[in-house]
Amino acid sequence: MSKVKFNTRIGLIAATVGSAVGLGNIWRFPAETQTNGGAAFLLVYILCMLVLGIPVMLAEFSLGRGGHGDAESVFRKLRPGSKWWLAGSLAILASYLILTFYMVVAGWTFEYLWQSITGDLYSSANCSSSMLESSFHEKMESYICSDFSPLVNTYVLILINLIILLRGVQKGIERMSNIMMPVLFVLLLVFAGVSLSMPGASDGLEYFFKPDFSKIDTGVIVNALGQSFFSLSLGMGILITYSSYYPKTTKLVPTALTVSILDLLVAVLMGMIIFPAVASFGLGESDLRGTTLVFVTLPEIFARMPATQLWSILFFLLLLVAALTSTISISEVSVAWVQDRFKKSRFKACMIVLLPLFVLSAVCSLSFGSLNGIKLFGMSIFDFLDNLATNIMLPLVSILVCIFIGWFVDKGFLRKEITNNGSVSNHFYPFVSFVIRYVAPPLLLLILLAAFIDF
Ligand code: PFF
Repeated sequence: MSKVKFNTRIGLIAATVGSAVGLGNIWRFPAETQTNGGAAFLLVYILCMLVLGIPVMLAEFSLGRGGHGDAESVFRKLRPGSKWWLAGSLAILASYLILTFYMVVAGWTFEYLWQSITGDLYSSANCSSSMLESSFHEKMESYICSDFSPLVNTYVLILINLIILLRGVQKGIERMSNIMMPVLFVLLLVFAGVSLSMPGASDGLEYFFKPDFSKIDTGVIVNALGQSFFSLSLGMGILITYSSYYPKTTKLVPTALTVSILDLLVAVLMGMIIFPAVASFGLGESDLRGTTLVFVTLPEIFARMPATQLWSILFFLLLLVAALTSTISISEVSVAWVQDRFKKSRFKACMIVLLPLFVLSAVCSLSFGSLNGIKLFGMSIFDFLDNLATNIMLPLVSILVCIFIGWFVDKGFLRKEITNNGSVSNHFYPFVSFVIRYVAPPLLLLILLAAFIDF
């Protein structure tokens, strides 16, 4: 394992928050909130994050920093001779599968940013309000379902990732995060200000913040749990890899709290942007679903605002930044693994990891176009990978991490990592250890079963 570490505490937090804050917060969170009953979902989501997400994050941090290696080697080091390394391999495989299709969506955000800059996104939009939606809908469909342009954008994103990753952990990942994360927060605050000052914004806020407890059922809990884990980048090997770059002096509990709270803040700010805007323009519930939220509904809102192009450029820049810091982090899982496991230089490891994406992500991208006819379990290649990796592999990895840390490594390991060898207070340790051993595994199993039934 190379001895590389993040340079500063700010850089380490920025990189980890950069990984956590992604399309999951900006796109998936508002859509999930809408499908699962608004404020009630938000409440359960916050609880899941605080009670389960943070302890599991601490398990991953301990594993990475204490095991001091890539997502697979930490299992080998802490339990030599056992088959536990398979859990690490599963995390790496899941992260790579996610990378193949997330890169395609990141490419879409790049196209929308580009079209916002050139003005093409709005040039042929039919401005009568009833036609706006269908106009953006058609635009999205015809873009996503074409072969050439989405492919080129995916390739652009792979190249940007390659350039940053080749520069290494400190000069590439840390420096990029230090620049991009403040930009992201400033943009979010600007959008929140604009959205909250729209007429009728309070209806949207009420929907987002006033819980109707009768809406909470098993489905809402399962979805909130799944969303909170996805949003914190748990079960992907990312936090294990990044925390292996944390110095021994890093306090893990404050770091986990800071990362989770900032991640939650972004999700909440996104809700405070989307729901008031949607309420203000009198758009319906269907406008908040899946892909349409960012590629149809928001352009529709921008088209009705003054300074359309400016807002559109700023928003798609925000989305691109969020997607980029996440793809970097998930690529780093495999890069670190190839570097460590096969003793490759950083350059070779980056090539080995990213070059195959020119084919694999292309297949995902074309699954909306020419390869549209190919179905796996009745799903397109893109949806199949998304379902398999996100809904099945991620909870499985988290369960294995909890069982491993809770039951299979040295008893004092977690305590040692959380308290920096006894030098910081351990008030949180009993709670964290209890959750990791007894609470998180059965609840995550519930998510897994629900996903299996859905599959
Ligand atoms: N926490 C990230 C998000 O919310 O988007 C999860 C993630 C997904 C990270 C995909 C990286 C990635 F490539």
